[in-house]
Amino acid sequence: MKAYPGLFISFEGTEGSGKSTQMRLLVNRLRSEGLTVTENQEPGATRIGKQIRRILLDPVHHEMASMTELLLMFASRTQAANEIIIPALTRGEIVVSDRFTDSTLAYQGEARGLGFETVLAAHRLALGSLAPDLTICLTIDLEKGLARADSRNQWSGDDANEARIDLQSLNFHRRVSEGYRKIAQLEPRRFRFVDGEGDRDMIAERVWTEVSQFVPARSQTK
Ligand SMILES: Nc1ncnc2c1ncn2[C@@H]1O[C@H](COP(=O)(O)OP(=O)(O)OP(=O)(O)O)[C@@H](O)[C@H]1O
Ligand SMILES: [Mg+2]
Repeated sequence: MKAYPGLFISFEGTEGSGKSTQMRLLVNRLRSEGLTVTENQEPGATRIGKQIRRILLDPVHHEMASMTELLLMFASRTQAANEIIIPALTRGEIVVSDRFTDSTLAYQGEARGLGFETVLAAHRLALGSLAPDLTICLTIDLEKGLARADSRNQWSGDDANEARIDLQSLNFHRRVSEGYRKIAQLEPRRFRFVDGEGDRDMIAERVWTEVSQFVPARSQTK
C-alpha cells in the first residue's frame, strides 16, 4: 500500500548529466497532460534549505566533516519534505525532485565513505519511509558531464557557489557513479538508468518511456 495518493519521482546523476534540463522537460510534459506537478530542488527549495545550501557550497568551508555535510543535507531534506513534498503527495499531486536521498547515498555514503547504512539510518530518522516511487538516473561520460556543468556555470556566473563540490577529483565522481550502480542493484524496480547522452528531446523520450508506466491512467487515456 502506498503511503500517499500522489506520485513521487526523483532525478539523479552525476554533475552535468542533465537532471535539471530533463526535469524541466518532464514537468512541462506532465503539465501539458493536465496533471498537477510540484517541483522540489535539493538542497534549497525552502527558505531554511537555501541557508543550508549556502553553508554546504561555500568553498571556505573546507574543514566541513563528512557527518556535518550528511546531517545538513538531511536537515534541508526534512524541511522540504514537510513544506513541499508530503503536502503535495497528500493532495494527490505528482512531485518531481531534482535529487533526493540517493544523492546522499552516492556522494556521502559511497564517495565520501560514510557507508550506505549510516545514510539510511539518517534517512529513517529524518524522513521515515518517504521515498520516490520512481527515480530516473541519467548516465553520461563523467568528463562530458563535468564539461557541460563547467560551461553552464561560466554562463550563469554561479561557479563560486558550485565550486566546493565541483572541484572534487574525477575519482570522486567515479565513486559517485559506483554508488548509483549499487543502488540500482538494491532497488532495480524503482531506480532506472536512462542514457543521458545525445539530443535533449531524444533523452526526454527515454525518460518518458519510464515515467509513463507510472503516471495515473487518466493522463494516458487523453
Ligand atoms: N542533452 C544535452 N546535450 C548538450 N548539453 C546539454 C544537454 N542537456 C543539458 N545540457 C547542458 O549541460 C549543462 C548541464 O545540464 P543540467 O544543468 O541540466 O545538468 P545537471 O545534471 O542538472 O547539473 P548539476 O549536477 O550541476 O545540477 C547545461 O548548460 C545544459 O544546458
Ligand atoms: Mg542541476
